[in-house]
Amino acid sequence: MKSIALVGGSGGIGAALIAQLCERDDVSVIHATYFKSPASSSLGSIGQFGTNTEVQWSCVDITDEQSVQQWLAGIPTIDWLINCAGFLHDTQTRPEKSVSQLQTANFEKNMQINCLPNLLLAKHAGDTLKRAEKGVFAAITAKVGSIEDNRLGGWYSYRASKAAANMVLKSLSIEWQRSAPNVRVVALHPGTTATKLSAPFQSGVKPEKLFSTDKTAALLLAQLDQLHDHASGRFVAYDGEELPW
Ligand SMILES: NC(=O)c1ccc[n+]([C@@H]2O[C@H](COP(=O)([O-])OP(=O)(O)OC[C@H]3O[C@@H](n4cnc5c(N)ncnc54)[C@H](OP(=O)(O)O)[C@@H]3O)[C@@H](O)[C@H]2O)c1
Repeated sequence: MKSIALVGGSGGIGAALIAQLCERDDVSVIHATYFKSPASSSLGSIGQFGTNTEVQWSCVDITDEQSVQQWLAGIPTIDWLINCAGFLHDTQTRPEKSVSQLQTANFEKNMQINCLPNLLLAKHAGDTLKRAEKGVFAAITAKVGSIEDNRLGGWYSYRASKAAANMVLKSLSIEWQRSAPNVRVVALHPGTTATKLSAPFQSGVKPEKLFSTDKTAALLLAQLDQLHDHASGRFVAYDGEELPW
């Protein structure tokens, strides 16, 4: 039975993953985090998602090392750690269409939420994950973080933070190939998914390319289930396509 640590359980994709993980018979407990949205309808209450699976919610600021450390110190076993937290826009800022729109504070916020937490999570969950039989350290990054695949430009801060997150995950996979060979590290691209993160940018997306959170969660779980058939350190899309870094 798996113990799962899921960061960003209050988000669109994170909440859908929790709901589906609760339906499985190989998951005993989910340690889920929220940050600012405990009262939102997407979060629900403890136990809402299933009867057999325990969901333990914690408020964690994943940009704050002490907050991350305290949360992980209270979790005795982790088989899968899934980071679903992320940031693209807020009421003040939208992704840059041109470099003239760059704001230092926005760049730093993207790096702080989209990149740094992967390092903090790895630092403080590593020893626990190393004891798992078939461990997984997965983070949802984004295809727009691919340098090779970048054809449109723009979105400087978000793209840079996701590319940096990919680099962190790749390096981690190399380190853990030696020190934690039982753990697969993966960067996941979920596809464009109807959540509050993508809401301002959905109008130009073809309906068949805009996934529901349920569809994305099912596709991502299928990828997570197959990770131990492959080497660690891959950048994989929802449909299993290997993406260029
Ligand atoms: N949706 C898409 O089309 C799409 C496409 C490509 C990649 N992605 C990536 O997929 C991931 C999930 O996105 P989503 O669409 O589900 O977004 P979302 O619905 O906006 O959820 C974002 C999550 O991140 C959490 N979060 C933000 N800042 C945090 C912080 N400082 N500490 C802790 N948690 C924090 C939020 O918590 P609170 O709400 O509680 O503050 C929320 O749970 C992100 O990494 C995103 O970049 C999404």
